[in-house]
Amino acid sequence: MSKICYFDANATTRVAPEVVEAMLPFLTERWGNPSSAYTFGNQVAKHIETSRAKAAALLNVDSREIVFTSCGTESINSAIHSALMTQPGKRHVVTTAVEHSATLKFCEHLRKRGYDVTFLPVESDGSMDLHLLEKTIRPDTAIVSVMWANNETGVIFPIEEIGAICRSRGVLCHTDAVQTPGKLKIDVQNLGADFLSLSGHKFHSPKGIGLLYVRRRTRFEPYLIGGHQERDRRGGTENVPYIIGLGRAAELAMEHLDEENTRVRALRDRLEEAVLTTIPATSRNGAKEERLPNTSNIAFDSVEAEAILMLLDQVGICASSGSACTTGSLDPSHVLVAMGLSPARARGSVRFSLGIDSTDEDVDYLLNHLPSIVAKLRAVSPARPPEVKPARRGATASTPGPTRREERKLRREAA
Ligand SMILES: Cc1ncc(COP(=O)(O)O)c(C=O)c1O
Repeated sequence: MSKICYFDANATTRVAPEVVEAMLPFLTERWGNPSSAYTFGNQVAKHIETSRAKAAALLNVDSREIVFTSCGTESINSAIHSALMTQPGKRHVVTTAVEHSATLKFCEHLRKRGYDVTFLPVESDGSMDLHLLEKTIRPDTAIVSVMWANNETGVIFPIEEIGAICRSRGVLCHTDAVQTPGKLKIDVQNLGADFLSLSGHKFHSPKGIGLLYVRRRTRFEPYLIGGHQERDRRGGTENVPYIIGLGRAAELAMEHLDEENTRVRALRDRLEEAVLTTIPATSRNGAKEERLPNTSNIAFDSVEAEAILMLLDQVGICASSGSACTTGSLDPSHVLVAMGLSPARARGSVRFSLGIDSTDEDVDYLLNHLPSIVAKLRAVSPARPPEVKPARRGATASTPGPTRREERKLRREAA
């Protein structure tokens, strides 16, 4: 496969070689069932517990508070489901309008089942009004579920404060922390969350493994009902190799924290600064400071993000226009629309998300291609802003853009 230049680390990450190495014995010779009574099986169970301890160390929690799941989506669904099942008298859920579809769609599903859900709005920089959150919590609120860092903009919500509000009101708190490992320091002791969800493939372990942190003494009702695995909190034979991989990836995430916040942050800032200063009619979506160190979401006026992404793809550059789970949908990003962007502006926004594999050469390569791609597309865009209209040969300041024939030619070239 030809080399790719990857700017989509919030969608997924490469499985780290150290993770593959840790997993391999459990895909080959150590294939016993951890629930078996004999040594060949229960030896494997011991390795699961070692991995659980590594995952617990990433969060600074007790191993017994970790439940391995199949993905971030399952963890999120399980947390909200459990809060509702263990408090049948409480039928209200509070979340935000900018959550990942794993939360949004599950809450929409709950609404159809007769539950009441409040989707809190956000400000134009993606931040949240905590007074509004306080006012929204009611005696029948079962759970507040708020993401820690937004996957599209990188905007960080103040989970510590949100946890404290929930605690003072006696309401369970879940945070979707899927985008945080390796990027933010996670210390659940300071967060005050009762549940926290992670997904392995966002931090260099394989797709198909996740975890749910459940605070000790929090009543829990399993989502997958079956065997006694995971201390009766998730039925189903454990995905041993992936659990081992996640444990190793948790160790690496702690090691990567410094690099993400120095080298990767500097790369992201260089990319963003260069795009905003060299390409006209561009702007950053989301707060500048309260943001993940690796994420930049940029609006390109008068051009469709999908067209930019297609032309970037032709030169081997991977980026995205939002969540990978909503790619292909013609709707503008719900996150950007909730921040007050017009649908057209939201449709012209691209997310660049970097990671520990990103290099200066990757950023240079992107900066070599992006300005000409945007200029080319704008030249054929009926909605191009006046300041970036290409001049017609021999045109004077008062004669606008290309002729229809020239436009048609440019469109053909860009297609
Ligand atoms: C913020 C956030 N939450 C949840 C998920 C869902 O995780 P998974 O793909 O493991 O189900 C994602 C994945 O894109 C995400 O970015």
